[in-house]
Amino acid sequence: MDELRPRLATAADASAIASIYNEGIAARSATFETEPRSVDEVARWVAASVHPMLVAEVRGEVVAAGWISAYSERLCYGGVGECSVYVAADHRGRGIGTALCEALAAEAERQGFYKLLGKLFTTNEASNRLVRRCGFREVGVHLCHGRLGGGWRDVLLVERLLGDAARVAARSPG
Ligand SMILES: CC(C)(COP(=O)(O)OP(=O)(O)OC[C@H]1O[C@@H](n2cnc3c(N)ncnc32)[C@H](O)[C@@H]1OP(=O)(O)O)[C@@H](O)C(=O)NCCC(=O)NCCS
Repeated sequence: MDELRPRLATAADASAIASIYNEGIAARSATFETEPRSVDEVARWVAASVHPMLVAEVRGEVVAAGWISAYSERLCYGGVGECSVYVAADHRGRGIGTALCEALAAEAERQGFYKLLGKLFTTNEASNRLVRRCGFREVGVHLCHGRLGGGWRDVLLVERLLGDAARVAARSPG
Protein backbone atom coordinates (compact mmCIF):
# COMPACT_ATOMS: atom_id res chain seq x y z
CA MET A 1 0.00 0.00 0.00
CA ASP A 2 1.18 3.55 -0.72
CA GLU A 3 2.07 5.52 2.36
CA LEU A 4 -1.08 6.55 4.15
CA ARG A 5 -1.20 9.81 6.05
CA PRO A 6 -4.06 10.20 8.52
CA ARG A 7 -4.34 13.77 9.81
CA LEU A 8 -6.88 16.13 11.34
CA ALA A 9 -9.40 17.41 8.78
CA THR A 10 -9.60 21.09 7.89
CA ALA A 11 -12.26 23.10 6.06
CA ALA A 12 -10.04 22.84 2.96
CA ASP A 13 -10.87 19.09 2.88
CA ALA A 14 -14.62 19.78 2.65
CA SER A 15 -14.93 18.97 -1.05
CA ALA A 16 -13.13 15.62 -0.71
CA ILE A 17 -15.04 14.68 2.45
CA ALA A 18 -18.39 15.58 0.83
CA SER A 19 -17.57 13.48 -2.21
CA ILE A 20 -16.50 10.44 -0.14
CA TYR A 21 -19.45 10.69 2.26
CA ASN A 22 -21.96 11.26 -0.54
CA GLU A 23 -20.72 8.10 -2.25
CA GLY A 24 -21.55 6.22 0.96
CA ILE A 25 -24.96 7.92 1.26
CA ALA A 26 -25.86 7.13 -2.37
CA ALA A 27 -25.05 3.43 -1.96
CA ARG A 28 -27.75 3.10 0.77
CA SER A 29 -25.64 0.48 2.52
CA ALA A 30 -23.83 2.44 5.23
CA THR A 31 -26.14 5.07 6.74
CA PHE A 32 -29.79 6.06 7.15
CA GLU A 33 -28.86 9.47 5.70
CA THR A 34 -30.32 9.96 2.21
CA GLU A 35 -29.57 13.61 1.37
CA PRO A 36 -26.15 14.36 -0.11
CA ARG A 37 -24.07 16.92 1.79
CA SER A 38 -23.01 20.12 0.02
CA VAL A 39 -19.39 21.23 0.23
CA ASP A 40 -20.46 24.35 2.19
CA GLU A 41 -22.35 22.22 4.68
CA VAL A 42 -19.34 19.96 5.20
CA ALA A 43 -17.00 22.98 5.53
CA ARG A 44 -19.24 24.37 8.31
CA TRP A 45 -19.40 20.91 9.93
CA VAL A 46 -15.59 20.57 9.94
CA ALA A 47 -15.11 24.10 11.28
CA ALA A 48 -17.63 23.55 14.09
CA SER A 49 -16.44 20.04 14.95
CA VAL A 50 -15.26 19.72 18.55
CA HIS A 51 -14.67 15.97 18.28
CA PRO A 52 -11.94 14.19 16.32
CA MET A 53 -12.36 14.34 12.57
CA LEU A 54 -9.62 12.84 10.41
CA VAL A 55 -8.87 12.35 6.76
CA ALA A 56 -6.36 9.97 5.19
CA GLU A 57 -4.23 10.97 2.24
CA VAL A 58 -2.55 8.75 -0.30
CA ARG A 59 -0.04 10.54 -2.52
CA GLY A 60 -1.55 13.91 -1.58
CA GLU A 61 -5.14 12.88 -2.35
CA VAL A 62 -7.74 12.66 0.43
CA VAL A 63 -9.18 9.14 0.03
CA ALA A 64 -10.95 8.56 3.35
CA ALA A 65 -12.63 10.41 6.18
CA GLY A 66 -13.57 9.41 9.70
CA TRP A 67 -15.12 11.23 12.58
CA ILE A 68 -16.43 10.90 16.12
CA SER A 69 -19.93 12.16 16.92
CA ALA A 70 -21.30 12.77 20.40
CA TYR A 71 -23.20 9.75 21.75
CA SER A 72 -25.30 11.67 24.26
CA GLU A 73 -25.75 15.18 25.61
CA ARG A 74 -25.61 13.79 29.17
CA LEU A 75 -22.40 14.76 30.94
CA CYS A 76 -21.84 11.22 32.25
CA TYR A 77 -21.50 9.96 28.67
CA GLY A 78 -19.18 12.73 27.49
CA GLY A 79 -16.36 10.22 26.99
CA VAL A 80 -18.41 8.00 24.68
CA GLY A 81 -18.29 8.75 20.97
CA GLU A 82 -19.81 7.26 17.84
CA CYS A 83 -17.32 6.40 15.16
CA SER A 84 -17.82 6.66 11.36
CA VAL A 85 -15.35 5.75 8.62
CA TYR A 86 -15.79 6.24 4.88
CA VAL A 87 -13.27 5.27 2.21
CA ALA A 88 -13.54 6.39 -1.44
CA ALA A 89 -14.86 3.47 -3.49
CA ASP A 90 -11.73 3.27 -5.68
CA HIS A 91 -9.53 2.83 -2.60
CA ARG A 92 -11.40 0.21 -0.58
CA GLY A 93 -10.04 -3.19 0.39
CA ARG A 94 -6.45 -1.98 0.84
CA GLY A 95 -6.30 -1.45 4.60
CA ILE A 96 -7.14 2.26 4.51
CA GLY A 97 -10.35 1.92 6.55
CA THR A 98 -8.49 -0.10 9.18
CA ALA A 99 -5.64 2.41 9.40
CA LEU A 100 -8.03 5.36 9.65
CA CYS A 101 -10.19 3.64 12.27
CA GLU A 102 -7.06 2.96 14.37
CA ALA A 103 -5.90 6.57 13.94
CA LEU A 104 -9.36 7.77 14.98
CA ALA A 105 -9.30 5.57 18.08
CA ALA A 106 -5.83 6.90 19.01
CA GLU A 107 -6.94 10.52 18.55
CA ALA A 108 -10.17 9.89 20.48
CA GLU A 109 -8.18 8.37 23.36
CA ARG A 110 -5.77 11.32 23.28
CA GLN A 111 -8.78 13.65 23.58
CA GLY A 112 -10.08 11.76 26.62
CA PHE A 113 -12.72 9.46 25.11
CA TYR A 114 -12.96 6.11 26.92
CA LYS A 115 -15.31 4.32 24.52
CA LEU A 116 -16.15 4.27 20.83
CA LEU A 117 -19.45 2.92 19.55
CA GLY A 118 -20.24 1.82 16.04
CA LYS A 119 -23.68 1.28 14.52
CA LEU A 120 -23.60 -0.78 11.36
CA PHE A 121 -26.19 -2.25 9.08
CA THR A 122 -25.99 -6.01 9.64
CA THR A 123 -25.90 -6.37 5.85
CA ASN A 124 -22.76 -4.21 5.45
CA GLU A 125 -20.15 -6.97 5.28
CA ALA A 126 -17.15 -4.65 4.83
CA SER A 127 -17.97 -2.51 7.87
CA ASN A 128 -18.76 -5.61 9.97
CA ARG A 129 -15.32 -6.98 9.14
CA LEU A 130 -13.64 -3.62 9.65
CA VAL A 131 -14.87 -3.23 13.23
CA ARG A 132 -13.95 -6.82 14.11
CA ARG A 133 -10.46 -6.21 12.75
CA CYS A 134 -10.21 -3.01 14.80
CA GLY A 135 -11.02 -4.72 18.10
CA PHE A 136 -14.66 -3.72 18.59
CA ARG A 137 -16.89 -6.22 20.36
CA GLU A 138 -20.49 -6.91 19.42
CA VAL A 139 -23.01 -5.57 21.93
CA GLY A 140 -26.12 -6.72 20.10
CA VAL A 141 -28.46 -6.16 17.20
CA HIS A 142 -31.23 -3.57 17.11
CA LEU A 143 -33.97 -5.22 15.05
CA CYS A 144 -35.90 -3.02 12.59
CA HIS A 145 -34.01 0.04 13.88
CA GLY A 146 -34.99 2.31 11.00
CA ARG A 147 -36.31 2.34 7.46
CA LEU A 148 -34.26 2.89 4.36
CA GLY A 149 -35.40 2.54 0.77
CA GLY A 150 -38.81 1.25 1.87
CA GLY A 151 -37.47 -1.57 4.03
CA TRP A 152 -36.51 -2.07 7.67
CA ARG A 153 -32.84 -2.29 8.56
CA ASP A 154 -31.30 -4.15 11.50
CA VAL A 155 -28.38 -2.35 13.13
CA LEU A 156 -25.42 -4.02 14.82
CA LEU A 157 -24.12 -2.11 17.85
CA VAL A 158 -20.39 -2.54 18.57
CA GLU A 159 -18.05 -0.95 21.10
CA ARG A 160 -14.36 -0.55 21.77
CA LEU A 161 -12.96 0.60 25.10
CA LEU A 162 -10.03 2.99 25.18
CA GLY A 163 -7.34 3.93 27.69
CA ASP A 164 -8.06 3.27 31.35
CA ALA A 165 -11.50 1.75 30.65
CA ALA A 166 -9.87 -0.84 28.37
CA ARG A 167 -7.28 -1.68 31.04
CA VAL A 168 -9.91 -2.00 33.79
CA ALA A 169 -12.17 -4.21 31.64
CA ALA A 170 -9.21 -6.42 30.68
CA ARG A 171 -8.44 -7.02 34.38
CA SER A 172 -12.02 -8.03 35.20
CA PRO A 173 -13.60 -9.47 32.04
CA GLY A 174 -17.28 -10.32 32.05
C1 LIG B 1 -16.37 -0.13 5.45
C2 LIG B 1 -15.15 0.56 4.84
C3 LIG B 1 -14.87 1.85 5.61
C4 LIG B 1 -13.94 -0.39 4.96
O1 LIG B 1 -12.80 0.30 4.49
P1 LIG B 1 -11.66 -0.47 3.65
O2 LIG B 1 -10.51 0.43 3.47
O3 LIG B 1 -12.28 -1.07 2.45
O4 LIG B 1 -11.33 -1.64 4.70
P2 LIG B 1 -9.96 -2.45 4.86
O5 LIG B 1 -9.29 -2.62 3.54
O6 LIG B 1 -9.17 -1.82 5.96
O7 LIG B 1 -10.50 -3.87 5.34
C5 LIG B 1 -11.18 -4.03 6.57
C6 LIG B 1 -11.93 -5.36 6.54
O8 LIG B 1 -13.04 -5.27 5.64
C7 LIG B 1 -12.98 -6.29 4.65
N1 LIG B 1 -13.53 -5.76 3.41
C8 LIG B 1 -13.11 -4.65 2.73
N2 LIG B 1 -13.90 -4.48 1.66
C9 LIG B 1 -14.81 -5.47 1.67
C10 LIG B 1 -15.90 -5.82 0.83
N3 LIG B 1 -16.21 -5.11 -0.26
N4 LIG B 1 -16.64 -6.91 1.17
C11 LIG B 1 -16.35 -7.64 2.27
N5 LIG B 1 -15.33 -7.34 3.11
C12 LIG B 1 -14.58 -6.29 2.80
C13 LIG B 1 -11.50 -6.61 4.55
O9 LIG B 1 -11.28 -7.88 4.02
C14 LIG B 1 -11.09 -6.52 6.02
O10 LIG B 1 -11.55 -7.65 6.73
P3 LIG B 1 -10.55 -8.83 7.19
O11 LIG B 1 -9.57 -8.17 8.11
O12 LIG B 1 -11.48 -9.78 7.88
O13 LIG B 1 -9.94 -9.36 5.95
C15 LIG B 1 -15.38 0.85 3.32
O14 LIG B 1 -15.78 -0.33 2.68
C16 LIG B 1 -16.40 1.94 3.07
O15 LIG B 1 -16.06 3.12 3.07
N6 LIG B 1 -17.69 1.53 2.84
C17 LIG B 1 -18.76 2.50 2.64
C18 LIG B 1 -19.04 3.33 3.89
C19 LIG B 1 -19.30 2.44 5.09
O16 LIG B 1 -19.96 1.40 5.00
N7 LIG B 1 -18.78 2.86 6.23
C20 LIG B 1 -19.01 2.15 7.47
C21 LIG B 1 -20.21 2.69 8.17
S1 LIG B 1 -19.72 4.00 9.26
